[in-house]
Amino acid sequence: MNKNSVYIETYGCQMNFADTELVMGILKTQGYELAKQIEDANIILLNTCSIRDNAEQKIYSRLEHLRGIKRRKSGTVIGILGCMAERLRKNLIEEKKVVDLVVGPDEYRRLPEFIDTAFSGEKGIGVKLSRTETYDDINPYREDGLSAFISVMRGCDKFCTYCVVPFTRGRERSRSLNSITDEINNLSARGFKEVTLLGQNVNSYNDGGNDFADLLAASAKIDKQMRIRFTTSHPQDLSGKLLNTIAEHDNICNYIHLPVQSGSNRILELMNRTYTIEHYLKLIDQARAIIPGVSFSTDIIAGFPTETEDDHKMTLDVMRKVRYDGAYMFKYSAREKTKAYEMADDITDEIKGRRLNEIIDLQHEVSYEINQSMIGKEEVLLVEGNSKKSDEFLAGRTDTNKMVVFPKAEGISEGDYVKVKISRATSGTLFGDVI
Ligand code: SAH
Ligand code: SF4
Ligand code: F3S
Repeated sequence: MNKNSVYIETYGCQMNFADTELVMGILKTQGYELAKQIEDANIILLNTCSIRDNAEQKIYSRLEHLRGIKRRKSGTVIGILGCMAERLRKNLIEEKKVVDLVVGPDEYRRLPEFIDTAFSGEKGIGVKLSRTETYDDINPYREDGLSAFISVMRGCDKFCTYCVVPFTRGRERSRSLNSITDEINNLSARGFKEVTLLGQNVNSYNDGGNDFADLLAASAKIDKQMRIRFTTSHPQDLSGKLLNTIAEHDNICNYIHLPVQSGSNRILELMNRTYTIEHYLKLIDQARAIIPGVSFSTDIIAGFPTETEDDHKMTLDVMRKVRYDGAYMFKYSAREKTKAYEMADDITDEIKGRRLNEIIDLQHEVSYEINQSMIGKEEVLLVEGNSKKSDEFLAGRTDTNKMVVFPKAEGISEGDYVKVKISRATSGTLFGDVI
């Protein structure tokens, strides 16, 4: 075993996955090896998420398991990175003796230093947030592949009242447009076919001279064969300029993740989401007019404090009006430090669960209907590889982010664009044949 061999597990959002690549980039240049198996590592890092209580519980049970590994192999360093590190700081070390290292999202440059501290027998703690750190100059470590995530900004200034992200990721700051386009250029040269530009709130990207529409346009021009995706869009900053930019470039995908959170204006106000449902629906209409065929997905929270049965019905109502192609749906989870934490978490778990199920059922119904209506249509897919269920089928995604499974055919492989005709559909998957 190499003395410094690192194994990293990543939890949470795509930004955490992108951060793990940054961390691997930093460690690689400092001479660390990246272990493929946890048994081969003497440094085990968990890049963690704090968004809901159950995300943190997952990490606690993982730590119990790692305690066993550490017992068998003394000298193993165990570290917590990411949002839980930032939220719990030294409490994490005091409560969980198995943890040697706690490093938050803005201190990854100093990770090698903290690892040394841990090896010397002390605890390594780095949890300062920064107003300027963007890791602009760090080369993330990526295996060759088809699709890459690029963080274009960090932090969030929106302070939705339920959300812990502004506390774990700090203030909003953007990378320079040039460093991002350089990175896309390199990915294109390596054969990547898709990049997803990431930010908690990408629409408010601003590097001092360029806004997000400028960044999208510059990214799209680099390689016309490369698909450009982006997430997450906040309804407050989805400008007409941005919508027009998406429409003008064929390789910017016609898919917008536009979380609505709730259908009730009263709840939206309590959430500090800064838009009304009327404004939100108008935006959807405007986007559909400018980008024909655009698809939408959303995030929804069930059981925010004081949510009534009527508020909940308004959420279902908005889902029926918009007819989202997909949705990420959650039970409200009270998070310390947030404004909503001061409100009573007064919706019982049972009611949250029932409302969430109604939301999930409705979304399945809508997804099924939308997918059924695609039967007979022709779609261009980027082939991603074998289908999950069978090696005799390939799977690829449409521009609008729908997965299509089709029988293997001569001369078609991963990374190709193919045209298929949709023949069958479930709520989650489309099936088709190459034409
Ligand atoms: N920046 C993005 C995503 C933030 S986290 C955005 O603004 O949409 C992803 C989703 O988790 C949020 O959209 C929200 O639906 C959900 N979420 C955040 N905090 C939550 C909480 N305390 N309880 C339940 N769901 C939450
Ligand atoms: Fe959280 Fe709101 Fe920021 Fe999204 S926009 S990360 S939900 S505070
Ligand atoms: Fe979780 Fe942090 Fe992302 S809280 S959702 S990992 S920004």
